Amino acid sequence: MSDLRPILFFDSGVGGLSVLAPTRALLPQASYVYAADSAGYPYGTRSEAEIAARVPALLGRLAERYRPRLIVIACNTASTIALPAVRAALDLPIVGTVPAIKPAAALSGTRTIGVLGTDATVRQPYVDDLAARFASDCRVLRHGSAELVDLAERELRGEPATDAAFAAAVAGLFGQPGGDAIDVVVNACTHFPLVAHRLATVAPQPLRFVDGGEGIARRIAYLTQGQDWGDAAAGRAVFTCDDGRIAALAPALARRGLPVTELL
Ligand code: DGL
Repeated sequence: MSDLRPILFFDSGVGGLSVLAPTRALLPQASYVYAADSAGYPYGTRSEAEIAARVPALLGRLAERYRPRLIVIACNTASTIALPAVRAALDLPIVGTVPAIKPAAALSGTRTIGVLGTDATVRQPYVDDLAARFASDCRVLRHGSAELVDLAERELRGEPATDAAFAAAVAGLFGQPGGDAIDVVVNACTHFPLVAHRLATVAPQPLRFVDGGEGIARRIAYLTQGQDWGDAAAGRAVFTCDDGRIAALAPALARRGLPVTELL
């Protein structure tokens, strides 16, 4: 019997699409469930306790319902706070998304790196640890922006914001002491690669952007190598509530082969 179990991607919103795209490029034969916790969105302004309580429980429900072969927490906020608890609770492979500080340090000529994430992510000890391990000779400047998460959601809804709105959302990164020396920015929120072209336009200096998407895709391919995928690759998007915005997002999801099929 062929194995139709999907890979389940999870985020608060549409950010995880930036991780799904490179994964699908490597594994087009796989089936995908994309789950967005619209009832919990946004994660980045929540407390650690809220994320730690919400994410493992919700992923438990999603795992029971969709029986995935592997779960991708395509969200830096949820991963940097709740990854160990999710792994302890679920008996299947869990791949997380954490800030790509190591590749950024390898690329930086000025040894000044920007980490652009959510407020919750940039204050995590996990980020201190990555900076100490992989970028100890770099200045690592951080900025959390809930506005930028919203701008990315808007972009996917086909309601793009102005350049001025993008510039304002990242001003707190480049305006810090030493910010004018940043030459590599880590997109440490999965929403941000979706608007990297907008960020490049408004950046005050030439920059390279890095994120974890390609590395995560390779990790998933490695963890699933040799597996049977069946012969009917399918995709669907599911949400935890209808916040009134699903209809506007549906075309972008459908273009990615993810028809919206249900509310949890
Ligand atoms: N996409 C998420 C991340 O990578 C979080 C966005 C949010 O809900 O604040 O951190």
